[in-house]
Amino acid sequence: MKWIEVNSYDEMSEVAADIFTKQLQVKPASILGLATGGSPVGMYKELVKRQQAGNISFNDVITFNLDEYVGLDQSSPASYWTFMHENLFNHVDIKEENIHLPNGKAENLDEECVAYDARIKEAGGIDLQLLGIGVNGHIGFNEPGTSFESLTNIVELTESTRTENAIYFDDSKDVPTHAITMGIQSIMNAKEIILIAFGEKKLEAMEKLKSGIITEDFPASQLLNHPNVTIIYGGTK
Ligand code: F6R
Repeated sequence: MKWIEVNSYDEMSEVAADIFTKQLQVKPASILGLATGGSPVGMYKELVKRQQAGNISFNDVITFNLDEYVGLDQSSPASYWTFMHENLFNHVDIKEENIHLPNGKAENLDEECVAYDARIKEAGGIDLQLLGIGVNGHIGFNEPGTSFESLTNIVELTESTRTENAIYFDDSKDVPTHAITMGIQSIMNAKEIILIAFGEKKLEAMEKLKSGIITEDFPASQLLNHPNVTIIYGGTK
């Protein structure tokens, strides 16, 4: 596990964007695993700038997002589909048919979970996976206690996660109770992973990760078993 300490959110975004830029320059038809939330917004802005300047292209890129709420329409302002379009997809040259997010409105959610992992496999597997981290160590929506062997699955969100995510909804009561998320094993299957975390709030999670203890009570700790992970973090002193 490689650790890169940065001094600002903007620096974190640039360092992460550099890794994505290199990936796209080496392999224009990359399969990218993407995340939502506050952490990647700056990196997406940076990638939009670089694409518009002609330094990279998403023309041949295929993306798979980590997760989506269950029960929200794609068009809902709080859906991850909307988030990704507003922050990245609407501003770059990606083909709509190459964008994948789990369908939280699927009639048969269990089938959707199996199909999502199959779609990733069919595409050739994720080359570069971006992750944020929850204060409780969750990655994707895999909350503490999730099996390290989990594939894409339906999860009940913890109160702490629902409270954190309430900022994206008009009323905290509107935060869905369930989400569909790539599992820990689905994430670990990626060839390379970068995790970004900035700010005081993430201090404890960074310390736990650094302690080297691998436990299902702290989902991100499984990343210590992955051969190619970079943690870009800061603001935690
Ligand atoms: C988002 C996701 C989550 C977030 C995590 C951190 O797709 O899967 O695990 O990465 O909750 O969120 P932020 O970046 O908002 O602190």
